[in-house]
Amino acid sequence: MSRELNVYLCGNKIGVLTENELSQFSFRYNNTALQPLSVNLPVRTEEYPHSLIYPFFENLAPEGEIFEILTREHISGSKIFSILDRFGGDCAGAVAFYKTTPENNTDNILYEITSDKILQIIEKLPDDPLLTSIKNPPRLSLAGAQSKFAVYKLNGKYYRSDDKHPTTHIIKIANKRFPELLKNELFCMKLAQAIKMDIPDIKLQTFTNRSAAGTVSFLEIKRFDRVIKDRSVQRVHQEDFCQALGIVSGKKYQAGGGASIRDCFKVIETYSKNLLTDITRFAEWIIFNYLIGNTDAHAKNISLLHAADGIKLAPFYDLLSTEVYPAKIMDRSTAMLINGKGKYDSLRPRDFAALFEQLGLNATNMMKNLKKRFSDVIVTAANVREELLQTGKLSGGKTETNAGTEIYSEIISIIARRWEILNS
Ligand SMILES: Nc1ncnc2c1ncn2[C@@H]1O[C@H](COP(=O)(O)OP(=O)(O)OP(=O)(O)O)[C@@H](O)[C@H]1O
Ligand SMILES: [Mg+2]
Repeated sequence: MSRELNVYLCGNKIGVLTENELSQFSFRYNNTALQPLSVNLPVRTEEYPHSLIYPFFENLAPEGEIFEILTREHISGSKIFSILDRFGGDCAGAVAFYKTTPENNTDNILYEITSDKILQIIEKLPDDPLLTSIKNPPRLSLAGAQSKFAVYKLNGKYYRSDDKHPTTHIIKIANKRFPELLKNELFCMKLAQAIKMDIPDIKLQTFTNRSAAGTVSFLEIKRFDRVIKDRSVQRVHQEDFCQALGIVSGKKYQAGGGASIRDCFKVIETYSKNLLTDITRFAEWIIFNYLIGNTDAHAKNISLLHAADGIKLAPFYDLLSTEVYPAKIMDRSTAMLINGKGKYDSLRPRDFAALFEQLGLNATNMMKNLKKRFSDVIVTAANVREELLQTGKLSGGKTETNAGTEIYSEIISIIARRWEILNS
């Protein structure tokens, strides 16, 4: 049986996604569509076939174990289509999927998610990504392999998102396999923010769990693809680099024929409205990931923002040190090669210079500017650590929430070692 979904962008219906009996997708923009889903899928009257359109939609779904859980009871047709049908009311960027118009689907009553409820969701989330403990669970689909959900936040209170109130904040929870993952991401994102890279606001929230007499922490990250205008939340479109390149999420790593730094650079070169700024920001992203030891800087961890004033690199997200974890639980291979090398430990300054040269940039200037740009990184990292320790002392009230903060010093040691190599 074939199925259809109406596709919305920024609240306007822009076309219809069809899945045929053989689970093949096709998509056609309607004649009022103004903005494309992707730089890779310009608005046109001709229908887009499966091969061109599937990667964009596939990249909107969660990955890994969460994908498996979401599709456990799936019987027929494409799992991706079923996810978008069931959960595609709020995705990354401004895209949303509905059988009918969004207005018809909302009861317009804001449902508060109390702190007790948040704790309950967090406890169950790894096994219950469907959020079945919430009455009328939100239709929400975010990519990535980590457990997360998103909320509409207003005046310090959390609410279930609905058609009229898209989510404004992403909530990321701890992962038993990777100790102190939240403090790791918090530290790296705060450091990036402190050295004036473009980073969304991020907070480590700690709630007391009355029933278990302990505390539960989560990261609350402000969505950069949402703006509040006239007291309502409006979506701003974004797409990750897999979508911009028209490749499926399985190709987010260069190994196995996936996205390379050159591929990502080409996207920026072709589509960015702020070309010079974005080339610099992209180079800073590469160096920052090297400094903190983030081997997971893949093509879904960098995005384009379709802002009102043009397409540009989105703020950076998902910055963390993977190298603080033992090699046996976290692969040391980098998501993308640098001058043909796939391990940060084997890199020398000449490899970065060669990379920039291969991209057609002035390598000498780039290296000089980048070293200047990051010259305060160690002092800044120490300051960020101090600030976070102070906040930890205050935020838990009577309970200090500084357990596990050794990870800050471990990341600083990696940065110090890498900074020395970069300057050798
Ligand atoms: N602050 C933000 N604002 C808007 N969208 C975001 C933000 N942070 C992340 N996203 C979107 O959500 C997706 C998942 O987020 P993120 O990469 O942080 O999750 P993850 O599960 O840790 O990913 P990974 O699988 O790479 O470990 C991103 O690919 C991006 O599209
Ligand atoms: Mg990610």
